[in-house]
Amino acid sequence: VCSCSSPKYFTFAHMTKKMSSNFQRRKIRVVDVQLGHRSYSIKVGAGLLSRLGKECAGLGFEKSCAIISDSNVAPLYAAQAMESLNLAGFNPVLVTVPAGEKSKCWEMVQACHEQIAKHRLERKSFIIALGGGVVGDLAGFVAATYLRGVDFVQVATTLLAQVDSSVGGKVGVNLRAGKNLVGAFHQPRLVLSDLETLATLPMREFRAGMAEVIKYGIVFDAELFNQLEQSMAKLLDQDTRTMAAVIERCCEIKAAVVWQDETESGIRAILNFGHTIGHGLEAISSYGNYLHGEAIAIGQVAAARLSEKLLGLPEEEMNRIEALFQRAGLPTQVQLNEGQQQDLIAAMQNDKKVSAGAVKFVLTASIGKASFGCQVPNELVVSTLSRLRGTA
Ligand code: NAD
Ligand code: GLY
Repeated sequence: VCSCSSPKYFTFAHMTKKMSSNFQRRKIRVVDVQLGHRSYSIKVGAGLLSRLGKECAGLGFEKSCAIISDSNVAPLYAAQAMESLNLAGFNPVLVTVPAGEKSKCWEMVQACHEQIAKHRLERKSFIIALGGGVVGDLAGFVAATYLRGVDFVQVATTLLAQVDSSVGGKVGVNLRAGKNLVGAFHQPRLVLSDLETLATLPMREFRAGMAEVIKYGIVFDAELFNQLEQSMAKLLDQDTRTMAAVIERCCEIKAAVVWQDETESGIRAILNFGHTIGHGLEAISSYGNYLHGEAIAIGQVAAARLSEKLLGLPEEEMNRIEALFQRAGLPTQVQLNEGQQQDLIAAMQNDKKVSAGAVKFVLTASIGKASFGCQVPNELVVSTLSRLRGTA
């Protein structure tokens, strides 16, 4: 169920002033996603939430808007977001959904539509996703479908959202049959990643986001992978400068990939490294046991093992990949009984990446390079999974 509250008028004016003077000295990193008339900027920096209203005003939006957030993020950041929008002359309404992957469902889309219709959002109104990947995917899909599409802005508050889900326009929800099976490509008009919001993110969630960061190193950038090996401790400590540089690099990579292949007819598939098995694990645990980042950490290690067998990924690199996930505090193995293994194989058949009935994998021949559309014999997937089971 969705809850919806009318605008609150907390006064943050003095804080906004103080923050904006600090802000002058703070660096904002900007990455542009080049997609013709749908191009937009990703802004990364500390204190950006207080600039939300100004940034939206700069995009020439109409006054009425909705913030879609979740029950963890809204109490922390919605008042500041509303205040910033009010100060810039907007008329925001807040819609709050329960936190967690289960909110990425069809029923919640409908509930959000009803709430924003009640508040009379119009064709030129806009929606702000304030939260992590769940809220971003859900709110983005609500924006893509309400009145056949309204503008939206991503305010990403998890590491995973800041490096991946807020960028690139994939929005959607899950079905019981599988992850993200209903969705659209709907690019945001702006992405704001305020590093300060990461301070309240639970450590387990922060580590889960690191799984997507490591992914960029494996599939695209060996130099980034080396840097992560060197600076993982600093990153887990949330050293602001190191974090900002890494988030910026991940966004540059994602922007470059999306620029080449917005709707995933080719190279964008490399961003799904580890996701075939990962999404399967999420589906068989009913989107409960594993966080998305944890499931794809296990999936990436499994994909690296398949790469060793099929593409000759050197053993030393395989070991470095596994070790980096472990240093990030992420799971790399899973205990599955016979029945669960069968369920996982069946869930993988329901993945979006299935083509003509064959499950397609992204594999890597060496760190920094990825191949997509790789067919993997079912027996090899099963034996890799049994190996995971044996070593769990
Ligand atoms: P999430 O949105 O569920 O956020 C994780 C948890 O942290 C939630 O409980 C949330 O309430 C809480 N939270 C968020 N920000 C917080 C903050 N600053 N302080 C305190 N708590 C905070 O999960 P996620 O890991 O951000 O995203 C996972 C989702 O993203 C999955 O559904 C996945 O499929 C999707 N995803 C989408 C894409 C894409 O391209 N669209 C890419 C990767 C992942
Ligand atoms: N996270 C995969 C993609 O955006 O394509």
